[in-house]
Amino acid sequence: MRRLQSATQMLEWSRRERCSGKGIAFVPTMGALHEGHLSLVDLAADRASRVVVSIFVNPAQFGPSKDLEQYPRDVERDMEMLSDRKVDAVFVPEEDVLYPAGCTTLVVETGLSEILEGASRPGHFRGVVTVVTKLLLIVEPDLLVLGQKDAQQVAVLRRLIHDLKFSVDVIVGPIIRESGGLALSSRNAYLSDDERRQAACLHESLFEARNLVRGGEDDAGVVLGAMRDRIEREPAVRIDYVVAVHPDTFEPATSLEGPTLFCVAVFVGDTRLIDNELVSSHPESPDGN
Ligand code: PAJ
Repeated sequence: MRRLQSATQMLEWSRRERCSGKGIAFVPTMGALHEGHLSLVDLAADRASRVVVSIFVNPAQFGPSKDLEQYPRDVERDMEMLSDRKVDAVFVPEEDVLYPAGCTTLVVETGLSEILEGASRPGHFRGVVTVVTKLLLIVEPDLLVLGQKDAQQVAVLRRLIHDLKFSVDVIVGPIIRESGGLALSSRNAYLSDDERRQAACLHESLFEARNLVRGGEDDAGVVLGAMRDRIEREPAVRIDYVVAVHPDTFEPATSLEGPTLFCVAVFVGDTRLIDNELVSSHPESPDGN
């Protein structure tokens, strides 16, 4: 497993592999790796003969709060976790590799980026889209591997790839959860024991949505009300949004007939957590549950 730091090293490695006929799958991350990230690495290894992982805490996608400063960083531990998997190259650029002094160009998606996560975290998707554009140009992968955990990020990046005609396919791995159901996230590390217990309302509200829809409930308002009721039982939890949307367009769901994406964002104490679930009234449909 190689550790590459400069854009030239990365691009040359990638081009060499592709010239020798190897397909490259790419898993972008901000490090602080957990089993959710590793599941994407395994998916990448199943789908391509070469796997590249990037580790870069992207300052451009953080707001002005302390979140960037606090974000957990331990590249040596991350490298060790990756060394147990089928990873060929890890791209670990310093900040000035991706944002050299005087760099004033940003890439902005102006539709989906404005709602939900984009509305709550102004500038967030501009940072994500800008860094992923740079990474795609440096890694030149055949396959981009993303997690359903960040469903809106997937939709925004699909738009980027379509609109700028990047020649890369996207595959999406399922949300990996703790045994209790809490979706794995680097931010879970900020939770106290009591907050962690209360955070269960995220996935429990989503399970409630699934049960109601499977049971025949077709009024989105009723399902969202039940989800809110479940979340509001927890004193340390404050709702940012609870929505039912179309899984590709993120338009509010008008009917619960087809697959509907239920998305939740809450603050547990000071920690912001998100979760989502694709639900269909027909159990054989693509939510796979
Ligand atoms: P990061 O939060 O490190 O996540 C990297 C990838 O892991 C994303 O595709 C994310 O959706 C996925 N992931 C996170 N938690 C997961 C879980 N519990 N189960 C499955 N997959 C999970 O997302 C980013 O970094 C950044 O925005 C990035 C795309 C790297 C751009 O900076």
